[in-house]
Amino acid sequence: MLFFLLPKTMHTSFVGKRIIVGVTGSIAAFKVAGWVSTLAQEEAEVDVVMTESAKRFVTSLTFSSLSGRRVLTNMFSAEEEGTISHIGLSREADCIIVAPATAQTIARLTYGFADDLLTTTILAADIPVLICPAMNVKMYEHPATQKNIEIVKTLGYKVIEPECGNMACGDYGKGRLPDWHQVSEYLLKELSDGDLKGQNVLVTAGPTRERYDPARFISNRSSGKMGFAIARAAFRRGAEVTLVTGPTSLDWPAGVRVIPVVSAQQMYDAVMSEFSNSSVIIKAAAVSDFKSAEHHLEKIKKDDATLTIKLVPNPDILQALGARCDPKKQLLVGFAAESSDLEKQGRKKLEKKNLALIAVNNIASAQSGFEVDSNQLVLIDHNGVTELPHTSKIKAADMLWDYIVKNKLLKT
Ligand code: C5P
Repeated sequence: MLFFLLPKTMHTSFVGKRIIVGVTGSIAAFKVAGWVSTLAQEEAEVDVVMTESAKRFVTSLTFSSLSGRRVLTNMFSAEEEGTISHIGLSREADCIIVAPATAQTIARLTYGFADDLLTTTILAADIPVLICPAMNVKMYEHPATQKNIEIVKTLGYKVIEPECGNMACGDYGKGRLPDWHQVSEYLLKELSDGDLKGQNVLVTAGPTRERYDPARFISNRSSGKMGFAIARAAFRRGAEVTLVTGPTSLDWPAGVRVIPVVSAQQMYDAVMSEFSNSSVIIKAAAVSDFKSAEHHLEKIKKDDATLTIKLVPNPDILQALGARCDPKKQLLVGFAAESSDLEKQGRKKLEKKNLALIAVNNIASAQSGFEVDSNQLVLIDHNGVTELPHTSKIKAADMLWDYIVKNKLLKT
């Protein structure tokens, strides 16, 4: 019988979260205006706290217009006084992110300075603090800054490494503020309840490509979006995540160890060398069932009217895992793309491949399965069948994890 499982919580969302964004005096402050706008659109309550030098780069009006809330800049301002103190500010918030964090602010945090509203708020906080350093490469690499970064880490603050690239000053190197799609993953991780903490999760994603000459290959329509969403959701919920992925056009998820592969054989080799360290293995990849029997070293000419390629089967990675995994210590989850008889086909694969759980998606529907951003999963295990609602792939991934956690399928 099918029934709907309502989502337990929205693990991957900023809705209703109170976030303090500490902006300090770096040119990268203008990028954070976009972050504040995104957070406000995603229904977070954002309190922006600016240092004096930050106001030289971006005005407080920019941030207040984007957050829809007052921006706090001065510890002793008559207007701000009495309405919100540094203590109250951090007490009411879920998380603090300092972005961009200058060498100066990092140094002040290192030594526990409390000489402005931002440093005082952080000193008074017992909530997660994320620091996003952004500065000139020489300033970033200076031993003093590096030492200070190590110290703030020992104080329990999370430091998100800057990126390499061209700098506003004309230099090239490490010190650029990372993109929001990276930073938001770390922020969501700090805001989650960490129910996958301690889990080593191995996810496979994407298609595989089976070459038959130097220019051509056989593949399928998989975009990798579902597997990437499962990996991202697991990271956000506190797991250590390894993602073995075939070729996709997606950005690699932040905080996730990625092993790129091309063919099914390479995916097999990568999975076989990784799986024994994993407590959860989710095989969302669309592995090519067949590969060419021969690999032509020269490009095949189109002289002939027809071309016959002899195909031979690829190894079934999931089936091999089903035979090798220890069901007492490891949770093995498969995926199945079906166009009819979803429940019957799913149950057959659950048994045949010795799985604890299988997620079936309907590829006959334009709204789920390959390429699109949404999906509708039918979860089948030895207790029954659960139909999840049609939703975005990231929410579907969270619901899959909710199901696993709620039904106590985790082994450690
Ligand atoms: O049998 P079918 O290909 O439909 O099963 C799908 C599941 O098996 C997916 O979890 C997929 O990742 C996995 N699979 C695999 N190796 C293959 C074919 C499928 O691991 N060669």
